[in-house]
Amino acid sequence: MAIKDILIWPDPELAKVSEEVETIDDEIRALAEDLLETMYAADGVGLAAPQIGIHKRMVVVDIYGSEEDRPSGEEPLVIINPKFVHKEGELTWEEGCLSVPGEVGKVTRAGKVTMTYTDLDGNEQTIEAEGLKAVALQHECDHLDGKLFVEYLSRLKRNMIKKRMLKLKAEREEEDAAA
Ligand code: NI
Repeated sequence: MAIKDILIWPDPELAKVSEEVETIDDEIRALAEDLLETMYAADGVGLAAPQIGIHKRMVVVDIYGSEEDRPSGEEPLVIINPKFVHKEGELTWEEGCLSVPGEVGKVTRAGKVTMTYTDLDGNEQTIEAEGLKAVALQHECDHLDGKLFVEYLSRLKRNMIKKRMLKLKAEREEEDAAA
């Protein structure tokens, strides 16, 4: 288990389409642990494998953000090869993303979704979600197709965010060089 570096947008690695997971082996189980650990360390409610540079169709979601805040009986979701089978309604949410730190923007998505996926034990699961959970599932699954929430924003807002991210990345590179 390890906390991984999260790629910052814009990064060509974030724009790639991820591949289906063929078999659930030790590598995939280790990836699930890394994704969860990295998400919690960054105070996120979701993380997709491509955000740590692994182009596999796998995401983790925990809308409670931590074990302490999660009601008993609720588990963090480890989602492999997700597919939306139903979407309805509309919901506008102010979204953020661990690959776009410190930024938020309003995005309108389906308000209610039904999704099928494979769990870590290889079982097919169906999940119905609404509210933040529906938003998080759609946001994370977008990452698997190389899409980030900034693409739903106006060009003006997206360009402003891009400038700040490029500045942030330059600052981090300087810090790394100095370290
Ligand atoms: Ni994201």
